[in-house]
This record gives sequence, C-alpha cells and structure tokens, in this order.
Amino acid sequence: MYRSKISGVGHYVPSNVVTNEDLSKMMDTSDEWIQERTGIKERRWIDPGSDDTTASMGVKAAKIAIERSGIDKNDIDFIVFATLSPDMYFPGPGVQVQKDLELKTVGALDVRNQCSGFVYGISVADQFIRTGMYKNILVIGSELHSKGLDKTTRGRGVTVIFGDGAGAVILSREEDESRGILSTHLHSEGEHAEELVLKAPGMGTRWVSDILKDNDPNDESYYPYMNGQFVFKHAVQRFSEVIMEGLEANGLSKNDIDLLIPHQANLRISQFIQRKFGLVDDQVYNNIMYYGNTTAASIPIALSEAWENGAINNGDLVVLAAFGSGFTWGSVIVKW
Ligand code: ACO
Repeated sequence: MYRSKISGVGHYVPSNVVTNEDLSKMMDTSDEWIQERTGIKERRWIDPGSDDTTASMGVKAAKIAIERSGIDKNDIDFIVFATLSPDMYFPGPGVQVQKDLELKTVGALDVRNQCSGFVYGISVADQFIRTGMYKNILVIGSELHSKGLDKTTRGRGVTVIFGDGAGAVILSREEDESRGILSTHLHSEGEHAEELVLKAPGMGTRWVSDILKDNDPNDESYYPYMNGQFVFKHAVQRFSEVIMEGLEANGLSKNDIDLLIPHQANLRISQFIQRKFGLVDDQVYNNIMYYGNTTAASIPIALSEAWENGAINNGDLVVLAAFGSGFTWGSVIVKW
C-alpha cells in the first residue's frame, strides 16, 4: 500500500478587485455589515471583459502546481475537477483541462460537492494512489461565481460572500508511509439540501421548454439561496466534529496540529474553530478577507498561498476541513 503526498500547489485569482464599498454602490449593504458578519474586505470577480472561465482559471492554477511538483505533465495519470460553477451544464470542466493542458487521454472526473468539493476530490485521488492504480493526479478546485450572483439588494445575503478563483495540487505517490495524506473523512446530510441551494438549471422542478417560454426576469431559481444562520450553526458543529474525527483516526490530538486550513466560508466560523481547538493565529490560515468564499477553490488557494508564504514546513501536521451545501463536509489529515 502506498501513500499520496501533495507534491505541488498553485493558484490563480482574477486581477479585478471588488471592495465592499463597490458592492454598496450596487445594493443596500455596507463595508461595516460585511466585515462584521464575515470578515471579508474584498473579493476577486472577473473583469466583465475577461475571457476567464472556471476551466481556464483551473488550467492556470494547474500549470503552476505542475511546475512546482517537478513532474512532467505527461506523467499525470488522472484529473479531478471540483466546482459548483462549471462552464457548461455538461460536460464538466475536467475534459477541458485535459484538452487545454494537452494531456494524454487520461481520465477526468468532475466532483459536485460545492464547498467540500476539493476535500472530496483529494479523498478520491488519494484512494487511486493508495491502491497503486495511479502515480500522479491533478486535483483542481475552481469557481466563477460572479456571473451567477444576484447583484441587487434581493441577493445581498449571498452575493457579498462569494468570489472567483482557482487552486490546484498534484498528488503523487509517496513510498514513505510516515508522511503524506494520513486519512480523509467524508460526510453528508441531504436532509438540509435546500438550505443552501441553486435550483436551476435542474430537471427536478421545471421543464426547460417552459423556462424558455416564460423567460421570467423575477425567476429566482437561477440564483443561489442560503439560509445563512442555519448553515452557520451546522458549519461550526460539523467542522469541529470532522477535524476531531481525523485527528482521532490517527491517534493524534488538537495539540498536534501545526496548521489548520479551513474552507474559507466565513472568518467568524474560522475564529470559532480556532478558539474551540485552542489554536493561535499562526496555526489557522485565513485569506477570506481578500478573496471571499471561493467554494471548491478556497482550500487549494489557501494551501498554495500558505506554502508560498512559508507557513508550511516539512514534517508539519496540516489539517484541511470543509463544510458546505448538501450538506457535505470532510477533512484531510496531512503529514507534510
Ligand atoms: N448587507 C446588509 N444587510 C444584510 C446583508 C448585506 N449584505 N445580507 C443580509 N442582510 C440583512 C438581512 O436582510 C437581515 O435583515 P433583517 O434583520 O432586517 O431581516 C439581517 O441583515 C441579518 O441577516 P442574517 O442572514 O440573519 O445575517 P447573519 O448574521 O446570519 O449573516 C451570513 C449572514 C454572513 C451569510 C452568515 O449567516 C453565514 O456566514 N452563514 C454561513 C455561510 C457558510 O458557511 N456557507 C457554507 C459554505 S457556502 C457553500 O457551500 C456554497
């Protein structure tokens, strides 16, 4: 049995910065409200004239991860792409990456687990490497939210939170069993699916022919809906549980954590977890202040930035944890 290790990290965010002040010109909100409730100061939204897409941002992040891992792109055996904002309803963006990176005809899997998508993607990739089936897997999380948000006061409870961007890692075979990904832990609770949801386009509610006929500008089903406080309460509980589950599975305790990289859902959630686990500021990586919530991209962007900033060292115990729509949640325990 092999282990997998993260051999390269990369991220890409659009250059266009949208401040809270900018948002207050589009809708009834304020810098004070947004910072107090979420910690977010600004986010990146693609420039309306830009040709960035979910797939192309993922490719940009992937190129950096491949270069840093030192592998030849022809040694990539498989692609996993996590997003809730694919360029097309189908096919998913994984195949676009295969084309744009000019890879061999390797498999490409699209993961639909929203904020937990990257953690789910890492878990899937880890299994392929553990069994010996593949040696190098490209795992991407990428989101282009800005084209799909309601930028009027009606959408303010959701719109101010989300940002665009992409992150990627290369997972590679590791023969030293004392390091690499120690374990992954995945959960879901579909009972709460509609508490954080984007209903359309979907075949569950309406006929596409009717949607086209109605062309109703007041149809909110194309915009995300979130029951914020309900999600918040579940998030703090599930984050804590799944981090503890991961530590206990490896005979570790909270004192063993060197760096926690939580999905960047809300700075208040991260701060709650930090207090609960008795961690100091340097032990929890947060960048939501500058990028907002980039859903499946948030952990790989944070991981790549933390690595660039020298916040991750060989031998560190790094914990990744996510919670989001589904509800789904999960953790990854890594000995770097
Ligand atoms: N600006 C100003 N006022 C606002 C805004 C805004 N942007 N948004 C909402 N309000 C108002 C509401 O209308 C409400 O007004 P009312 O009291 O007059 O009715 C008031 O502010 C409070 O609204 P709440 O929704 O109760 O605000 P809350 O304190 O819960 O904060 C937030 C909202 C930031 C969304 C928070 O609930 C949260 O972060 N939830 C968890 C998010 C999360 O973890 N998501 C999971 C990952 S995302 C994914 O998986 C896709």
